Amino acid sequence: MKIVIVGAGAIGSLFGALLAKNNTVVLVGRAPHITAIQHNGLNINGKTHLHVKLSAVESVKDIPISPNLILLTVKSYDTETAIKQTLPLIRDETVVVSLQNGLDNIEKIEHIVDKDRIFAGVTTHGAIFSNPGVIRHTGKGKTILGELDGTRSKRLENIVRLFNEAGIETQVSDDVVKEIWAKAIINSSINPLTAFFNCKNGYLLENPLLHKIVEAISEESTNIAQAEGIKLTAPDMIQRTKEVIEDTASNYSSMLQSVQQRKKTEIDSMNGKLVTIGKQHRIDTSLNKILVELVTSLADG
Ligand SMILES: NC(=O)c1ccc[n+]([C@@H]2O[C@H](COP(=O)([O-])OP(=O)(O)OC[C@H]3O[C@@H](n4cnc5c(N)ncnc54)[C@H](OP(=O)(O)O)[C@@H]3O)[C@@H](O)[C@H]2O)c1
Repeated sequence: MKIVIVGAGAIGSLFGALLAKNNTVVLVGRAPHITAIQHNGLNINGKTHLHVKLSAVESVKDIPISPNLILLTVKSYDTETAIKQTLPLIRDETVVVSLQNGLDNIEKIEHIVDKDRIFAGVTTHGAIFSNPGVIRHTGKGKTILGELDGTRSKRLENIVRLFNEAGIETQVSDDVVKEIWAKAIINSSINPLTAFFNCKNGYLLENPLLHKIVEAISEESTNIAQAEGIKLTAPDMIQRTKEVIEDTASNYSSMLQSVQQRKKTEIDSMNGKLVTIGKQHRIDTSLNKILVELVTSLADG
C-alpha cells in the first residue's frame, strides 16, 4: 500500500518506520528531522530497534506517490492546516486515518474532506523525539481503528491487517468514537495535573490529595461524555485512569514535556473541548475549566 504520514514527529515516525517494512511510505515533517532521514535514514530505539531508509519530505508538493492511506499524526492544534495541505493528494480510493489525541480532530478533518473517507484511531504506543532522525519507542501498546459509522468494512479490515503485518498490534472497533472519548477522559485526568505540578505520572496516585483530584476529574469528564451520548461509566473510567497511571508511573506526560520545551500543548482539544461540550449540555465543567486555566497560565508565564 502507498502511505503518506503527515506529521512525522514521534508517533508518526514510529508508525512510518514499522509500516515501511511492507509498504511504500513517505513521511512529511519538518527539518532538521526530515533532512537527517534523507541523509542517514530513520533510527528507532528503545522498545523497537530499526534502521529504515524511506522517503521523507518537508512539503506535500514533493510527495512522489498517490497514497491509498494518509495517516495524520500532527498535534491537534495543527490538524486543520495539515489536512488542508494534504487535499491535493486525495484520490477516489484515499482513506484518511487520524491517530491523534483530542476530541476535535475528526470534526476538523470532516470540514475539509468527505466524512466517508475518514477513519479514526487511538494508540497506546509511546514515542518521543530524541534527535533529528532518531525516535525513542518508550512503550509498546495497542492500536484501535474504526469507521466513524462503526461498520466493519473491507477497506478497514485491509488496513488493520496491514498494520498487524507491520508489527503494530491493531484491532477493529465498532465504536471508535467511544475509544477516542475514553482516551480523552484518561488524558484529561492525568496530563494537565502532571504539567502543572511538574511531576511524573505516578506521583498523581502517591499524593493523596492529587489521587482524589484525579478521581474527581475523571468523573466530571465522564459525565460530560455521557451527556454527549457516549456509553462510558465513571467507576470504570476512574479505574482505567488509575491503571494507566500505574502502567506509566515513571513517565513524564506529553503535556508536561511540551510545557518544559515551551511548546504549545493540546489542552484546548482535551480539557478545553470537554468544557465546551459540557457547557452545551449545561453540566458541571468546573474542574476541567480550572485545568485549562492552569495549563494556559503556564504557557503564558
Ligand atoms: N508521542 C506519543 O507517544 C503519542 C501516543 C499516542 C498519541 N499521540 C498523539 O499523536 C499526535 C502527535 O503526537 P507526537 O508526540 O508524535 O507529536 P510531535 O512529535 O510533535 O509530532 C508532530 C510533528 O508534526 C509536525 N508538523 C506539524 N504540522 C505539520 C505540517 N503541516 N506538515 C508536516 N509536519 C507538520 C510537527 O512539527 P513542529 O512541531 O515543528 O510544528 C512535529 O514534528 C498528538 O495528537 C498526540 O497526542 C502521541
